[in-house]
Amino acid sequence: MPARYARALVVLHWLIASLVLLGLIGGTFFVDEVPNSDPAKIGALAGHMIIGGAILVLMLVRLIIRLRADVPPSVNAASTAAHWGLYLLVFVMAGSGITMSLAIGLPNIVFFGQGSLPADFNSLTARTVHGIAANLLIALVALHVAAAIWHAAVKTDGVMARMGLRR
Ligand code: HEM
Ligand code: HEM
Repeated sequence: MPARYARALVVLHWLIASLVLLGLIGGTFFVDEVPNSDPAKIGALAGHMIIGGAILVLMLVRLIIRLRADVPPSVNAASTAAHWGLYLLVFVMAGSGITMSLAIGLPNIVFFGQGSLPADFNSLTARTVHGIAANLLIALVALHVAAAIWHAAVKTDGVMARMGLRR
């Protein structure tokens, strides 16, 4: 088994991590906080949908490479469970986002100016799922980052370097 993740998996990890943080912060503070009656909402939704779609594509690509690659041995059962939980929650976020958006016809409204936004999205089950999964993902990412820092600063066992670009 290799000591580190392959370069493509490392690059994709950090690209996806940046986009997920942008999606979570943007979704919480710039999408959810802006009422649908505000003209700024269309632009916020456009940016959020593009970031969310990019995350879905990149996460699928990373998963396919990941399943076929030789990867470093699992650190422990908890980290393995947390990592698959991150994959699952990211896919639930993207799936519920796309389901909600198609149910309302958001692509036409947001990207082609056809029709107008409903008063809010709250009646949709997919919106409820998106909100709950967002909170779970925020908690799991916080735990994941805390564990990474703990490995780097306290245990100094080289786990952080497994996801590093320096060879
Ligand atoms: C920004 C702060 C982050 C840090 C410092 C960080 C650090 C790390 C490190 C060091 C590993 C390797 C663990 C090991 O070797 O076992 C890892 C793995 C992983 N990280 Fe992150 N990460 C961050 C953010 C994220 C985000 C936002 C996501 C996605 C939601 C994510 C998803 C994953 C996944 C799925 C793995 C498992 C890799 C695999 O086996 O496919 N990380 N992370
Ligand atoms: C895959 C990564 C994604 C992340 C991390 C993410 C994150 C978020 C967050 C944190 C919120 C606010 C939730 C709340 O506070 O209750 C939100 C709302 C929303 N997201 Fe996403 N999202 C993602 C993908 C998508 C996709 C792909 C779409 C559509 C194509 C989408 C459409 C929406 C919509 C319509 C809202 C509701 C805004 C409102 O109620 O005003 N999201 N998202």
